[in-house]
Amino acid sequence: MLPHPTLATHYATPEAKPEFVNQLFNRGAEHYDAVVDWGFLRSGAAYRHWTLQQHGLRPGHHLLDVACGTGLVAVAAAKILGTAEHITCLDPSAGMLGIARTKLAATFVLGRAEALPFADHSFDFLTMGYALRHVTSLEDTFREYQRVLKPGGKLLILEITKPAGRVGGFFFRLYFRHLYPFLTRLFTRSTDARDMMRYYWETMDACVPPAAVLAALAAAGLTAVKRNVVLGLFSEYSALKPALSP
Ligand SMILES: C[S@@+](CC[C@H](N)C(=O)[O-])C[C@H]1O[C@@H](n2cnc3c(N)ncnc32)[C@H](O)[C@@H]1O
Repeated sequence: MLPHPTLATHYATPEAKPEFVNQLFNRGAEHYDAVVDWGFLRSGAAYRHWTLQQHGLRPGHHLLDVACGTGLVAVAAAKILGTAEHITCLDPSAGMLGIARTKLAATFVLGRAEALPFADHSFDFLTMGYALRHVTSLEDTFREYQRVLKPGGKLLILEITKPAGRVGGFFFRLYFRHLYPFLTRLFTRSTDARDMMRYYWETMDACVPPAAVLAALAAAGLTAVKRNVVLGLFSEYSALKPALSP
């Protein structure tokens, strides 16, 4: 299952999506941190740190951060782990990875969520921040997550989800569709940065409902599949890889 239908104004076929998304983030990379910092009222670092702690990331864990981008989740994780030594960051965008590399001494890997270049049972904890909409298949992605987690390992997927209610939906649309891309262009003077934030909105708007994500996680063999919602907006999908039976 695709996380959203083909967005024909950007790319013609599902096969063309990865290249389009890659170019989008390569071009927007230098602006990403600043734009998401003020765009979320400077709350991003504290929220990422808080939610990783709430979901049980602990010193000693080996963490895989899929779609690490410029490293915002990994930097928060390193503060909890006390080191970046056991953090592996994966992303298909060389531009985003290049910025992440300047921030922490983790292991950096160019790759995609749908085909992870890691052995089975490698990680205690797996994160993916604000990138689920960019994969080409939920099934392939979650099968890979299930495969690389150790038995008993946990995954945490952070997303923004369009509110279901009319009032919330109205303000969500107003901000993410109109205001955020406009302000991004104004502050950065970059059409690349604006296009990145326009696409952000379009993929959130077109995204499959949370129930479909939960069903796909369960279908991949993961257990304790849950969605926690913060402020009616921030979805935290979590799940466990079943422990080996004694
Ligand atoms: C919005 S950024 C999120 C960055 C970071 N995780 C954060 O919390 O800010 C989305 C990232 O997903 C990456 N991405 C796109 N397609 C991907 C795929 N198929 N597998 C893994 N990462 C992907 C992009 O290159 C980009 O760095």
